[in-house]
Amino acid sequence: MTPAQDIKPVAGLERAVRNSWDQNNLSNSPTAFSLAAQQQSLSSSFGGSFARRGSVAENMKPLKPFNTEDVKILLLENVNKSGQDILRKQGYQVEALTTSLPEDQLIEKIRDVQVIGIRSKTKLTDRVLAEAKNLLVIGCFCIGTNQVDLEYAARQGIAVFNSPFANSRSVAELVIAEIITLARQLGDRSNEMHRGTWNKVSAKCWEIRGKTLGIIGYGHIGSQLSVLAEAMGMKVIYYDVVTLMAMGTARQVPTLNDLLDEADFVTLHVPDLPETRNMMSTAQFDKMKHGAYLINASRGSVVDIPALIKAMNAGKIAGAALDVYPNEPAANGDYFNGSLNTWGDDLRQLHNIILTPHIGGSTEEAQRAIGIEVVGEALVRYINQGITVGSVNMPETQLRSLTLEEENTARVIYIHKNVPGVLRKVNEILGDHNVDKQISDSKGDVAYLMADISNVQVGEIKDLYERLEALSSRILTRVLY
Ligand SMILES: NC(=O)c1ccc[n+]([C@@H]2O[C@H](COP(=O)([O-])OP(=O)(O)OC[C@H]3O[C@@H](n4cnc5c(N)ncnc54)[C@H](O)[C@@H]3O)[C@@H](O)[C@H]2O)c1
Repeated sequence: MTPAQDIKPVAGLERAVRNSWDQNNLSNSPTAFSLAAQQQSLSSSFGGSFARRGSVAENMKPLKPFNTEDVKILLLENVNKSGQDILRKQGYQVEALTTSLPEDQLIEKIRDVQVIGIRSKTKLTDRVLAEAKNLLVIGCFCIGTNQVDLEYAARQGIAVFNSPFANSRSVAELVIAEIITLARQLGDRSNEMHRGTWNKVSAKCWEIRGKTLGIIGYGHIGSQLSVLAEAMGMKVIYYDVVTLMAMGTARQVPTLNDLLDEADFVTLHVPDLPETRNMMSTAQFDKMKHGAYLINASRGSVVDIPALIKAMNAGKIAGAALDVYPNEPAANGDYFNGSLNTWGDDLRQLHNIILTPHIGGSTEEAQRAIGIEVVGEALVRYINQGITVGSVNMPETQLRSLTLEEENTARVIYIHKNVPGVLRKVNEILGDHNVDKQISDSKGDVAYLMADISNVQVGEIKDLYERLEALSSRILTRVLY
C-alpha cells in the first residue's frame, strides 16, 4: 500500500484538514519542488519507512509519502494491540488510551486528530463531531456503529469504518458447540451435577452425524458454519434471499418452509431487517420437525421468544440456544431478568436451553482480527489512498493503485454535497488536466469523487485544490500525491 499526502488546506475555509507538510513546503512554495525532485529527497529521508512497507508491490508507484509523523491518531477503549502496531508502523503519531473519555475531554482531544479509533462506549455525537475540525476518518473497532452519528459524520466528510466480519469464525464455532450441547442435553446434565444430582440418561440424546443442519442466512457466518458442520458429518441445507454458491455438498432450498420441513437443527444468521423480525414465530415452529432444535446467534429481534417458549413447553422444540435478545443489558451484572424482558423468567425455567450473553463473536482471535480488519485494511487504505470500500457512511469507491510508470500523478478526492450540477463544475476544473481515471458515487446527501490526474506539477495541484475548495458544493477536498 502506498502512503500519500494530503495537500495543505487554504486558511479560512469552513473545515480545514491539517496538512502533513509544513508551511515552508508545498503551500508557501508550491513551485519550489518538482515532483520528481521531491520523490528523490523523500525516498532517501523516508527510506526506512518505505523499506518496512514490504507489502508495496514492486511495480506500484510510491506516491509521495505523508510526513507521517503529522498524522495524529487517538485510539480509545483499549483497542487491540495488533491495530495499534499497524498504525505505528505507518509512522503515525498514535495515542492509545485504555478507556473512553467524558464528552468534554473527548471534544478537547478530537479537535487535534485526523483519525479516531473507538469501540462501543465512546459516543461520537453531532456535538462532538462538530468540534472535530481535522478529523478524516473514524474506525469502530467493533461490529456496531450506533455510537456514531453516521449521517452527520458523512455530511462533515468524515468516513466511518467498522469490522463486520472479523468474528464470523468465532460465531460459527460457538454454533457448532451448541449443536452438540443441545443434542446431548449437556447443559441440563451439567446443571444437575452442579446441584449434586447424578442423572445418566441416553433417551433423546443423539449423535449429530447424519443429521440435517438448516442454515437461515448463508453469509459470512452461515457459510463458515456450513463447512464446519459438514466436516462433522452433518447434511447441510440453507435458505437465503440471494442465490448463493454452496460450500461443499450443502444445498440451497427455495423457501424457508422447505428448510423447516427438513432440518433437525435450525440456525439463524440473518441481519436485523423489517423482513427478518420475528421470522421464527408460531407458524414456523409448527412447521419444524417434532423434536428439532433452534439456535439464534444473529439478532434478538429475529425470534419471537414467547412463541419459542410455548413450542418448547409443548415438546415440539427439543432444545434451543440463544445468544442474542430483543433487549440486552448495557453492562455486565444481574440484569437478565423479568424486568428486562417480560418473558425472561419463563425462558430461564425451560429445559435444554443454552442462554449466553451475546458472546458469539467474543474471542481473543476476533478482537485481534478486528484490529487488523479495521486498521490494516480500512483505515490505512483510506488515509493513504482515499479508498472507501467498507465504509458504512460513504459510498464505496475505489480506483486501482498507481504504477511506477505513472509519474507525476496526483489523486484528487472531492467529497461534496449530492446536488445537481456539481460534476459539471468539478470536471471543468479537472478538465484542464489529463484525467487518467475517475469514479464518483453518492449515498444520501453526500457524494464521493476520486480522480487520478497525470502529468501534473505541484503548482497546478495547489491551483486545482483551491478551485475545488472554492466550490459551494464542497465538503472536503484531499489531494494525495
Ligand atoms: N452473536 C454475535 O456475537 C454475533 C457476531 C457477529 C455477527 N452477528 C450477527 O449475525 C448475523 C449474520 O452475520 P453475517 O456476518 O453472516 O452477515 P452477512 O451479511 O454476511 O450474511 C447475512 C445473510 O443473510 C441473508 N439474508 C438477509 N435477509 C434474509 C432473509 N429475510 N431470509 C434469509 N436470508 C436473508 C443475506 O442475503 C446474507 O447472505 C448478523 O445479524 C450479525 O449481526 C452476531
